[in-house]
Amino acid sequence: MFEVIDNELLAPNLHRIVVRAPRIAAARKAGQFVILRVEKGGERIPLTIGDADAVEGTITLFVQAVGATTRKLVAIPAKGHVRDMAGPLGMPTHIETWGRVACIGGGVGTAVLYPMAKALAETGNEVTTVIGGRSRDFVILAEALSAFSADTQITTEDGSLGRKGFVTSVLDELLRDPGRAPGAVFAVGPVPMMRAVAEMTRPYGIKTIVSLNPIMIDGTGMCGGCRVLIGGETKFACVDGPEFDGHLVDFDNLSDRLTTYREHECRMVMQIQVKREAA
Ligand SMILES: Cc1cc2nc3c(=O)[nH]c(=O)nc-3n(C[C@H](O)[C@H](O)[C@H](O)COP(=O)(O)OP(=O)(O)OC[C@H]3O[C@@H](n4cnc5c(N)ncnc54)[C@H](O)[C@@H]3O)c2cc1C
Ligand code: FES
Repeated sequence: MFEVIDNELLAPNLHRIVVRAPRIAAARKAGQFVILRVEKGGERIPLTIGDADAVEGTITLFVQAVGATTRKLVAIPAKGHVRDMAGPLGMPTHIETWGRVACIGGGVGTAVLYPMAKALAETGNEVTTVIGGRSRDFVILAEALSAFSADTQITTEDGSLGRKGFVTSVLDELLRDPGRAPGAVFAVGPVPMMRAVAEMTRPYGIKTIVSLNPIMIDGTGMCGGCRVLIGGETKFACVDGPEFDGHLVDFDNLSDRLTTYREHECRMVMQIQVKREAA
């Protein structure tokens, strides 16, 4: 059992959850994640380790409640417990000194982007952060990212916060401006957004890293659930990734695999709502 030390609502449906997990906190590097189960027999879900404090023995998770398990997780109060948690899993972010880097986050992808961007800034890179969402409620961690970013740009599709439009419009401007063009781009978000970013940087030959979000079950390379096609080769996102060269990712294959369980997930959420209404 893993004790929840703090659970704070940061934005509608976005929680910052601090969990006591000393061994994970001591070993964790930026870009790695945990797989947890909220309760016995529950679904396993992967969550990026947003931050860690090795001295306090805690890790921080930024969790967006999107479905059955994340809703149960964000409902756990301080002093409550997460049933089990395995980690740190996955390969750490490959950090180099590129000079200027652009970190692009869409929706909950921004939670995954946060530790990557922080590690890049701590290594001396000048980070331009571009984050976006459907509306202001879906733009997360802007303040936390601004703390170490040289420049933070926000876009929303409805114009309710920052610039109206998509994160890719801002990236396009950066790429065209020799004074601001990045040496590397990191993008995390919905598949169409990561695909668009990779296609935009390809003609410029700019290294582009994306963090993929296939369904994960065991997180140890055994079940094959998270397989992705990278440069025509099968890789397992949980052990070979989750970060890959965006110019080599087969995004069509990733999209197909992500929609496989959609009907089942909708049924689970409906069942929870019906139970809540009946209670
Ligand atoms: C490496 C990685 C890191 C992630 N980090 C974060 C994070 O820091 N914060 C955050 O809020 N979310 C993160 N996610 C997404 C998170 O795992 C899903 O939101 C969660 O699994 C949804 O489960 P659910 O039961 O609440 O919703 P569901 O209704 O079951 O699913 C909603 C969507 O989440 C995805 N999903 C569902 N189950 C899984 C699974 N077992 N593995 C992967 N994706 C799944 C699917 O795309 C699905 O359509 C990460 C995903 C991956 C792969
Ligand atoms: S989650 Fe099972 S192989 Fe990656």
